[in-house]
Amino acid sequence: MDKRRLAGTDLDVSVICYGPMRAPQSNDDPAVTTHQRAMQAAIERGVNFIHSSYEYGVRWLMTPVLQDHPQRHDLLHVIKAPVPDWDDDGFDPAKLEARVDDALRELCTDRIALVQWMWRCRPHEEPPRLKLLAQIRDAVGETFERLRDKGKVAHMGCFPYFPDSAEAARDIHGNRALIAYYNPIELEMLPVIQNAAKRGQGFLAIRPLYEGVLTSRYTDQSALPPNHRLAKPKYASAFAHRARLANVLPEAAQDMTRFATRFPLMLDNCASVIVGLNSESQVAELCDHAQGVQPDPATVARVQDLYKDMTQQEG
Ligand SMILES: NC(=O)c1ccc[n+]([C@@H]2O[C@H](COP(=O)([O-])OP(=O)(O)OC[C@H]3O[C@@H](n4cnc5c(N)ncnc54)[C@H](OP(=O)(O)O)[C@@H]3O)[C@@H](O)[C@H]2O)c1
Repeated sequence: MDKRRLAGTDLDVSVICYGPMRAPQSNDDPAVTTHQRAMQAAIERGVNFIHSSYEYGVRWLMTPVLQDHPQRHDLLHVIKAPVPDWDDDGFDPAKLEARVDDALRELCTDRIALVQWMWRCRPHEEPPRLKLLAQIRDAVGETFERLRDKGKVAHMGCFPYFPDSAEAARDIHGNRALIAYYNPIELEMLPVIQNAAKRGQGFLAIRPLYEGVLTSRYTDQSALPPNHRLAKPKYASAFAHRARLANVLPEAAQDMTRFATRFPLMLDNCASVIVGLNSESQVAELCDHAQGVQPDPATVARVQDLYKDMTQQEG
């Protein structure tokens, strides 16, 4: 498994980061064993980077895989920590530390490699977010320094949701990495990612397969079984973008899963793709696809042009 240094840190992470968000939340679900096997298979294949959040309600399933695992001390955990959350009243350092303490216990580790910090507020728009950030940024930086000094966390990164939020948060004390949704049909953050690269800041791409739309399984939304989660009307536009991408890029038409897995890694500063892996066969396929990706600015530019065209047409 290829590894890349997350720029700005000392973390050498596998290019695939295991994402467990769609794992079962309860032991009654017959898919529990399949998901635990997928996680084990990912580690066996050399995945050393694991994403998780208390919000997913799935750490109960991860703990038994991790607690006696011989490679447990080599694994690097990135945890999503939204503090303040939607209805919180400002930033609470104790809440952030409690999230970290929960993760240390549930993931059976001594240190969180990267905290994916995010701040939320209502309405979910740039102006109130920027206002709130200005009020809390110093406290956030100080809290991370304290957690690092205690040995609980190694680094902090930020998931800013929007471009202006990303730029405003970039120089919070200790902020080492940008973490964002990024895939061939979701390029809103590309200019921000490229600015981060110029500053020597690393990047992690979330949902490279657009939740499963960008795979070779279903070329068209009408091919989905009616009760499939991707059959909902909200995915229609993503399937339209997918079709356009396949028309324009032969490599995407040939194997969409492969192309979408590799696409974020064509950026120099993208260290890993945080992807949902739900079975051993998905793990095997994606681990193979992610090997040996080289920087490819020409393909990135072509896909960006296509994205601009599509979003302009949509108005
Ligand atoms: N704000 C945040 O921090 C945030 C938000 C969202 C997600 N995340 C993280 O990102 C991870 C990935 O997000 P995501 O699951 O929404 O998007 P994704 O990684 O783009 O898509 C994952 C889906 O793709 C399908 N898939 C995987 N391997 C495949 C293969 N080899 N062939 C065909 N299909 C394949 C699976 O669909 P099936 O389910 O049909 O098997 C899987 O659920 C999450 O687990 C979570 O850790 C973070």
